[in-house]
Amino acid sequence: MNFTADIFSKFDKQWALLTAGNKDSFNTMTVSWGGLGTLWSRPVATVYVRTSRYTHEFMDREDYFTVSFFSEKYKKELGVLGSKSGRDMDKMNASGLTPKAVENSVTFEEAEVTLICKKLFMQNLDPVNMTEEIRETFYSKDAPHDMYIGEVVAII
Ligand SMILES: Cc1cc2nc3c(=O)[nH]c(=O)nc-3n(C[C@H](O)[C@H](O)[C@H](O)COP(=O)(O)O)c2cc1C
Repeated sequence: MNFTADIFSKFDKQWALLTAGNKDSFNTMTVSWGGLGTLWSRPVATVYVRTSRYTHEFMDREDYFTVSFFSEKYKKELGVLGSKSGRDMDKMNASGLTPKAVENSVTFEEAEVTLICKKLFMQNLDPVNMTEEIRETFYSKDAPHDMYIGEVVAII
């Protein structure tokens, strides 16, 4: 596995699609918060999903998820997938991206690179343990985040 990235801008500036499910039943959403690193002697990707997201249901149900990165020209598509919910509409068709089955999960033909992740751990980010400033800024109106850590088992 080979992957080179400026990790402080990879999620923050480029964004990614977080996808869980299989070709017949999956959901995807745009993420810009996440991490890449090492845990339990494994390469891992960490993502943060508010409990209100439709994707959250798939993240809980599935054993695998993918994190897919795209070139700049797909920013508009990622904007759609990050502002509409799969609960309310067929946003996949609306986005114009092409889903592609990969082992245990789904990514997109247009993705530049996809991390296939095996779920190892999830936990609620309890606002009680945050600084007041973070709690007030990010959680006074919106649902809390759950953190999912996945082992990166393949990079395609
Ligand atoms: C640039 C961008 C980054 C986002 N990052 C996250 C994130 O890291 N975690 C999260 O829970 N929601 C994030 N969102 C919001 C979800 O993508 C958005 O609520 C989406 O519509 C959820 O879709 P779903 O209900 O089909 O899962 C982001 C949205 C955008 C536009």
